[in-house]
Amino acid sequence: MSKAHFGLIGLGVMGENLVLNAERNGFSSVVYNRTYSKTQAFLEGRGAGKSITGASDLKDFVSKLERPRRILMMVKAGSATDAVIDQISKYLEKGDLLIDGGNSEFRDTERRVAQLESKSFGYIGMGVSGGAKGAFEGPSMMPGGTKASYDAIESLVSKMAAQVEDGPCVAYIGPGGSGHFVKTVHNGIEYGIEQILSEAYDVMKRIGGLNGNQIADVMSHWNRTEELSSYLVEITEVCLRARDPEDDSDLVEKIMDKAGQKGTGLWTVISALELGASVPTIYASLNARVMSSLKVQRVKAESIIKAPALSSFDLGCAQDGMAPLMDAVVLATIASYAQGMELLRSASDEYKYNLNLPSIAQIWKGGCIIRSQLLKRIQNAYEADPHLQNLLIDSWFAEQVNSRLHNLANIVSGAAQRGIPLPCLSSSLDYINSYRSGRLPQNLVQAMRDCFGSHTYERIDQEGSFHTEWLE
Ligand code: 6PG
Repeated sequence: MSKAHFGLIGLGVMGENLVLNAERNGFSSVVYNRTYSKTQAFLEGRGAGKSITGASDLKDFVSKLERPRRILMMVKAGSATDAVIDQISKYLEKGDLLIDGGNSEFRDTERRVAQLESKSFGYIGMGVSGGAKGAFEGPSMMPGGTKASYDAIESLVSKMAAQVEDGPCVAYIGPGGSGHFVKTVHNGIEYGIEQILSEAYDVMKRIGGLNGNQIADVMSHWNRTEELSSYLVEITEVCLRARDPEDDSDLVEKIMDKAGQKGTGLWTVISALELGASVPTIYASLNARVMSSLKVQRVKAESIIKAPALSSFDLGCAQDGMAPLMDAVVLATIASYAQGMELLRSASDEYKYNLNLPSIAQIWKGGCIIRSQLLKRIQNAYEADPHLQNLLIDSWFAEQVNSRLHNLANIVSGAAQRGIPLPCLSSSLDYINSYRSGRLPQNLVQAMRDCFGSHTYERIDQEGSFHTEWLE
């Protein structure tokens, strides 16, 4: 019996869809799952009649694969991934290649690449984005590790990936854990945009008095604009139109307002703090989830602390896509991408990843959760100027900021006067205003630090380091 081209470990939702994708693209496959009953159920169900066989143990699994073996692990990040590596290593031979397609912490991947490559096995840490549908139809993939290991999987992943006008949504990212780092930042941006759209919904509901279908109409309008056309706006419309089968009301209104997280947003913020990169929009989205989990406390506080009810403000009308609110959402979305891209640049410098920012924008254009038309502009901006210091100052993006900033300010201040929290929109406003302020008040922070701790300061009119005896 001829050996299979490709092996998959872990028949969860993503694993099942990825192996069906590989098989559809001409790669015969063998699958293994910790519980064999799941393997059998898959082979009798979605896997039936296809070039996919199963294995009941890892030895059998490895023996059914052609060499060098290409094995994709879709298992839980953390100790489960280490356990699989440990169990399978004894059956692998020189040149065989393991790919971790889970959402692993990039430092775990750094360690595993070093460990596996030292045994002459290839190891790729590959971010995979697109959810179940993307995994089946074509995800965006972010593989990191040695270039030689990537070359060994390129024919496979470039067929499996989403395809856009300038090629497949996969490219070699860089060494070590860089693939998982880029996927982590992707998820940070994803958190930001999810929160921004949720805030826009809140404003339209609480200030504009719109119902789910009316807000969905605005989302549909936004999804037809270059600035906001994206997968997340598209699914927001779908969520808002969904009815509760119980009473045909808006289903979203029945959903508990507590958002969970699996870690990638937190890792983005931790990395940003470690690297000294500024990501307030992404941080605000993470904090909004933390705050949302304090449901009982929030309900109690609502009756104790009253909202101000100062003024009314112009949201625009739904037929025009709530133009002022749209301006605010466009700028906050741009701020999320700008922060994510700058975080990638910092990491690239610090970890020597040599990341290619236009290429990353390109592979995010299709298949992944943050795919959007804006990514074409982002790709163009970094192609035009590889040393661009921040997306906000690229000419096209600067024009967006200059023409829309007043409305972001109006929405944030109007909502504040009604006591409506807009963490991502207001952080984005502060981010943009800080970035465009030639002078910030940190001169006073420096004075205080020098006053109590003799930390010294620089002057704007003289070179050198200065200290003043402030308290004398
Ligand atoms: C993707 C998603 C995917 C997953 C996130 C959700 O790109 O396909 O990012 O990886 O949905 O892990 O993260 P939270 O559960 O932390 O929101």
